[in-house]
Amino acid sequence: MPAFRPGLEGVPATQSAICDIDGRNGVLTYRGYPVEQLANHSSFLETTYLLIWGELPTGEQLRRFEYEVQMHRRVSFRIRDMMKCFPADGHPMDALQSSAASLGLFYSRRALDDPQYIEEAVVRLIAKIPTMVAAFQLIRKGQDPIQPRDDLSYSANFLYMITERVPDPMAARIFDACLILHAEHSLNASTFSARVTASTLTDPYAVVASAVGTLAGPLHGGANEDVLTMLDQIGSEDRVEAYLERAVAEKQKIMGFGHREYRVKDPRAVILQELAEELFDRFGHDHMYDVARRLEKAAESRLGAKGIYPNVDFYSGLVYRKLGIPRDLFTPIFAIARVAGWLAHWKEQLGANRIYRPTQIYTGASGKTWLPIDTRSSGAGA
Ligand code: COA
Repeated sequence: MPAFRPGLEGVPATQSAICDIDGRNGVLTYRGYPVEQLANHSSFLETTYLLIWGELPTGEQLRRFEYEVQMHRRVSFRIRDMMKCFPADGHPMDALQSSAASLGLFYSRRALDDPQYIEEAVVRLIAKIPTMVAAFQLIRKGQDPIQPRDDLSYSANFLYMITERVPDPMAARIFDACLILHAEHSLNASTFSARVTASTLTDPYAVVASAVGTLAGPLHGGANEDVLTMLDQIGSEDRVEAYLERAVAEKQKIMGFGHREYRVKDPRAVILQELAEELFDRFGHDHMYDVARRLEKAAESRLGAKGIYPNVDFYSGLVYRKLGIPRDLFTPIFAIARVAGWLAHWKEQLGANRIYRPTQIYTGASGKTWLPIDTRSSGAGA
């Protein structure tokens, strides 16, 4: 039997042609294209098309995809009514997981070998997930969700639906670049979860719902919320070193640092930092950015030798805050982007499916005999 590797670290669990990470040199590519090029020149919908169908679209293919997504942005009033019953203080990731799963009730056909069904499911999920995130945002404030606007791009429309204002074009472009940076990242926990679920040949809504649940944890997508909380706790630049000393001494993790795949600074963090600076130049400085930069510098000497550097979550929260996005929507926004990657993996998994069924090393008891309840001492078996 092969050696047990906790967390399957370094164990290949699939073959994939979607995304490649060179963690030593900090290089990330989607279908062979460096993520920097995509963040600078592509759009989130074009990148989604690339990830799912494997090639950049022609102008006509992209126009058709954008049109289909635009046509499917609205969600049924029955889903909106269901969301009105969710507790207003519930986490938006839980609301998203429930509402994503509910799509399966409305579109439950399981013809997984029908390319048209695959295409429709892709379009519906890419189109409706942002609308559901925005709907819960307004519903929990006691308002009715606002309808998507057909004259706005994918990203501008999402910002409009949550802030109720048409965003500045530069803000919408930066948000779109953030979605590109979060769209895919090989076999991370939520994508693995999506592939395991996909391998049972269940419907794509269940695939996305299981991945949303996995993304919600603080060691995965939830870290970007925690980064801002940590920066707020530190409060000012002069308190950075003391905070870091204490965290290292107490073996606490610095949120937004470290990555299983990278031994250098996450290339997405490099781009997000540039985007943050662009935003601050235009819309005003956030002094927490100075705290973050000082923490990065101080952490380099303390943690750099172990290969622990800022990851994608370190600067994304600062960008989202400047865009006026509430903190607990950061992870749902990660999900909006990552749906593209999950669906690419869903489609790839269906193309060469074998149900996931790893083995285990049993470490429990053996040879026990069941006893009638009145003859048992506490917790004991014979
Ligand atoms: N701050 C301080 N030390 C860290 C650290 C961090 N953020 N991340 C890892 N380390 C240290 C661990 O304490 C451990 O040290 P040790 O060997 O001396 O005990 C070593 O690095 C390996 O850590 P481990 O948790 O085993 O690495 P991993 O590959 O399993 O974990 C993460 C990867 C992302 C889960 C981990 O880095 C982490 O929890 N980061 C903070 C949360 C976060 O930002 N998540 C978003 C990921 S995109």
